[in-house]
Amino acid sequence: AGGPWEECFEAAVQLALRAGQIIRKALTEDKHVSTKTSAADLVTETDHLVEDLIISELQKRFPSHRFIAEEATASGAKCVLTSSPTWIIDPIDGTCNFVHRFPTVAVSIGFAVHQELEFGVIHHCTEERLYTGRRGQGAFCNGQRLQVSRETDLSKALVLTEIGSKRDPATLRLFLSNMERLLHAKAHGVRVIGSSTLALCHLASGAADAYYQFGLHCWDLAAATVIIREAGGIVMDTSGGPLDLMSCRVVAAGTRELAMLIAQALQTINYGRDDEK
Ligand code: IPD
Repeated sequence: AGGPWEECFEAAVQLALRAGQIIRKALTEDKHVSTKTSAADLVTETDHLVEDLIISELQKRFPSHRFIAEEATASGAKCVLTSSPTWIIDPIDGTCNFVHRFPTVAVSIGFAVHQELEFGVIHHCTEERLYTGRRGQGAFCNGQRLQVSRETDLSKALVLTEIGSKRDPATLRLFLSNMERLLHAKAHGVRVIGSSTLALCHLASGAADAYYQFGLHCWDLAAATVIIREAGGIVMDTSGGPLDLMSCRVVAAGTRELAMLIAQALQTINYGRDDEK
């Protein structure tokens, strides 16, 4: 039983695989790189190509559906989640890695109906790993069921985070002081791999115990949230309250206890919202 969105899920899998092939090939070729909101916020012709491919194919098959996607938003499209079936797409997550040929690059496709996330598909392009999660049906990587770690103790945890694209002094100070707080609390380690979605997939796989970030976007989070929840994990706001997909901040962990410990340890500043740009 595939559920009501089976056809959409199958389309997402096919397109994530196709997009992955394009990205893998482009990884070793010359690229035209432009910057967006900061010197570290990069985009290439492949980001645009892949996003256009995914959206045009989905639009043909599901003409009434809506889309939120990274490069369309960068070009001024509004980023609002209505109750209509909505695809939330990051064509290349880890664009900076992609530009440098650092092989941690993914395609992320999430799908929400009535503002509830129904499924997520994330393709780790260079390792050919396909992560999927469907609400009520579990999370998998290449067909193998995913299970988060049961760690509750911050002093035994491996924690992942990402820097985000802002580079102003206040943002950098906050990033470094939050990392210092977690290391001071004796976390085993804090890792930055350059792709929010793949870091979140590591958490879903039990390869890390927790994740937090300020300044990520709904397309970094949508697909991964379903995968983590279906692997038994928790995804919440940095305040310890419920996740707000548009709030540009997140704490996730295998257990609620660990997520709460991290939420309590973090300092915050205002990063803005995706739906207020
Ligand atoms: C970014 C990456 C990066 C994270 C940013 C994301 P992009 O996505 O995941 O690691 O720090 O917050 O926006 O721009 O490569 O799709």
